[in-house]
Amino acid sequence: MKATAELAEGVAIVTGGSRGIGLGIAAELARGGARVAVVARNADRAVEAAAGLDGDGHAAYSCDIADSRACRKTVAAVESRQGPVTVLVNNAGIARDNIVLRLRDEDWTRVIDTNLGGTFNMIRAVTRGMMKRRAGSIVNVTSVIGLMGNAGQANYAASKAGLHGLTKSVARELASRNIRCNAVAPGFIRTDMTAGLPEARVNELTGRIPAGRLGEPADVAGVVRFLAGPEAGYITGQIIAVDGGMAM
Ligand code: NAI
Repeated sequence: MKATAELAEGVAIVTGGSRGIGLGIAAELARGGARVAVVARNADRAVEAAAGLDGDGHAAYSCDIADSRACRKTVAAVESRQGPVTVLVNNAGIARDNIVLRLRDEDWTRVIDTNLGGTFNMIRAVTRGMMKRRAGSIVNVTSVIGLMGNAGQANYAASKAGLHGLTKSVARELASRNIRCNAVAPGFIRTDMTAGLPEARVNELTGRIPAGRLGEPADVAGVVRFLAGPEAGYITGQIIAVDGGMAM
């Protein structure tokens, strides 16, 4: 497999790029020379995030990735405004935690439709162009919870485990077209998603992490940049945990 196009020449879509891990990824790819398309639900935050990135040629798009038509329209808008998409980072994701007995239908559906369905929608939307150009790198942000399971997160764990199957299937389907698809599975990372956890819970979680600390968005972003770029040109279908050793 040939190395994919240099990031420096490419357009990288980052879903959920307006904050947290996604913003860290957008910043890292921008520093690597990519023109970043920040895709998020909240238009104002996406615009603000894109404006704060290093370099030129970045843009913001408001899109609910659970809506397949909106994903198609967004990818078309990115391609006409910024150019052909070389990198897609599927980072947007949500959690609606509860024990199975108390999970409501909408908690199940919304999490599966966003995390798993949304990633599928975006992959399908970029695939035709990447296949024509015979170049592309897709990185899905999953979770160690998709590998380990977690009490109180059946919907979230199922969505992330589903992403692992999706990642490997897409990798097998598109490898001959020089399109790679990998996943990064973060452990506990300091963002809005984890900010609400009580201190006792954070201490308990930290005790389960061999590295002895929560991760930072930059810990994840560096691995995404590596997987997105040409140095990872012979890597596809892999799930790389970035978790301080938690899921060994
Ligand atoms: P966050 O809650 O801080 O940010 C989520 C981002 O996704 C936001 O930009 C939001 O606008 C976007 N988003 C959510 N639903 C969307 C939708 N339907 N359409 C478009 N954009 C949408 O989350 P955080 O912590 O930065 O997480 C990012 C990814 O990393 C998620 O997929 C999450 O599951 C995963 N992750 C996070 C971990 C953590 O400890 N923070 C651990 C493991 C995985």
